[in-house]
Amino acid sequence: MAIVKRKFDVVIVGAGGAGMRAALRLSEAGLKVAVLSKVFPTRSHTVSAQGGIAAPLGNVTEDNWHWHMYDTVKGSDYLGDQDAIEFMCRHASEVVYELEHFGMPFDRLENGKIYQRPFGGQSQNFGGAQATRSCAAADRTGHALLHTLYQRNVSANTQFFVEWMGLDLIRDEQGDVLGVTAMEMETGEVMLLQAKATLFATGGGGRIFQANTNALINTGDGLGMAARAGIPLEDMEFWQFHPTGIHGVGVLISEAVRGEGGYLINKDGERFMERYAPNAKDLASRDVVARAMTIEIKEGRGCGDELDHLLLKLDHLGSEIIKSRLPGIRELAMKFAHADPIHDPIPVVPTAHYMMGGIPTNYYGQVVAPYKTGPEEVVTGFYAVGECACVSVHGANRLGTNSLLDLVVFGRAAANQIIEDLKINPHHKPLPADAADKSLGRLARLENQTDGENVAQVTDALCKTMQTYCGVFRFEDTLLQGVEKIKAVAERVGRTEIKDKSRVFNTARIEALELDNMKEVAVATMVSAEARRESRGAHARDDFPERDDDNWLRHTLFFSEDHRLDYKPVRLKPLTVDSFPPKKRTY
Ligand code: FUM
Repeated sequence: MAIVKRKFDVVIVGAGGAGMRAALRLSEAGLKVAVLSKVFPTRSHTVSAQGGIAAPLGNVTEDNWHWHMYDTVKGSDYLGDQDAIEFMCRHASEVVYELEHFGMPFDRLENGKIYQRPFGGQSQNFGGAQATRSCAAADRTGHALLHTLYQRNVSANTQFFVEWMGLDLIRDEQGDVLGVTAMEMETGEVMLLQAKATLFATGGGGRIFQANTNALINTGDGLGMAARAGIPLEDMEFWQFHPTGIHGVGVLISEAVRGEGGYLINKDGERFMERYAPNAKDLASRDVVARAMTIEIKEGRGCGDELDHLLLKLDHLGSEIIKSRLPGIRELAMKFAHADPIHDPIPVVPTAHYMMGGIPTNYYGQVVAPYKTGPEEVVTGFYAVGECACVSVHGANRLGTNSLLDLVVFGRAAANQIIEDLKINPHHKPLPADAADKSLGRLARLENQTDGENVAQVTDALCKTMQTYCGVFRFEDTLLQGVEKIKAVAERVGRTEIKDKSRVFNTARIEALELDNMKEVAVATMVSAEARRESRGAHARDDFPERDDDNWLRHTLFFSEDHRLDYKPVRLKPLTVDSFPPKKRTY
């Protein structure tokens, strides 16, 4: 089958905050940039980020990048790479001011400075009083950020391929990356996009869990493409469960609610976080709050007829604060929980939210991985940023509002690195003759499969397996069963059939291709979780309740080809300051 070929300097897959920040820098540098997106760019999942973007501006409480760095290292339960964390925190204020100058409509304090609110795990003076670090545009910060970057990209002539899905990474014999194959979602047309640099900014894969806060598009596409191309996935056992997803729906209720003074109560009306985190209370880090909530429910102190959720109370904030600072939350609560938070508490449960693991990179966004049996090295031509990447600034647990920061800091850093790398490698490398074969083979299998299983049925089985066997608390027997079950589901993925082969909207074909990617994310998660025999950050094992730095202060690498695991050391040495050595984490 002959397919259309296009050449670009840089191909970016994903038009969320990270992809668009990178695209802007690259287009402004005069490079020919293509950005592929499954949805219209301003509908990328960044749009749902609510509470803010972390930066130590010090507009409300005294602050500095070193305190932010300490909090991020501690929040990561010491699994974060301290060079990357220093890099991110040092650049935080600068990238926020840059966004302000791009026209991002932040809320303002009385004195005209950017509005900031407190979020979990933020402290002054290395673990002291609560800091106020999250810069916000009401509770629609991601929305404001994404629209700002999109408008800038349009004027910088970035070329968008809207409703195009990346299919597979193209690598040559040396392992260098030469571009991607992609499909126009409406028509099914396949195209080969050849590039001197390929940047993945494809976001997370939270759709592998039955209850999650993620958009339908978050099917781990970048991870699937990387895994099929022989790149290992790093630290996939670490998934953040956001404490406040709306019960039964999964929609996110921002931590900003607790930042503004809201708090959680159990069926007795008790503010139970005081027992679990006496200092930070409801603003302890997310893994701590999610576990506390799970224990409350398990021990019979949940709310409602089924005692299966908790209540987020914010009526005491008053209608003015709720309407001005949390208007989106109010709208979501009324629509999805039939509760107006001005009067009623919101029913919430911990809900899968964020993937700390991903494609291994350094803090320049370069993908770093072994090729076949070789040593770990930079993969020429391949970059990854944002939630699909593991740089690793979030380690075993991400702090709220560090994700928007991660997007813009590393989106910009990767673009700068690409500009430098293209000065050394200014030409396209020749494409191998079989460049598109892998994708065409996958598509042919889908077209030709008969008597296969329905895609939706297998997707459902995958999500149920992840939800049941790999949740907030993990147990030896359920993890062992989970590994067997998810491998069995993975086998079924290879035999799915598109029942509706018509090309009206082409959704059945897209869902089948997405399931290929979800499978990679799910298997990597379960196998990595079963193997890590300690509790750290968001990975809480019932049989190994303590953190074990002697044996497990290391990153996991999962290889899809043979389900092999390998490990590599955490980069404990920051760039310029002393390391923060692991110590007991209390809030
Ligand atoms: O709670 C929130 O607003 C989510 C923020 C985040 O995940 O960083």
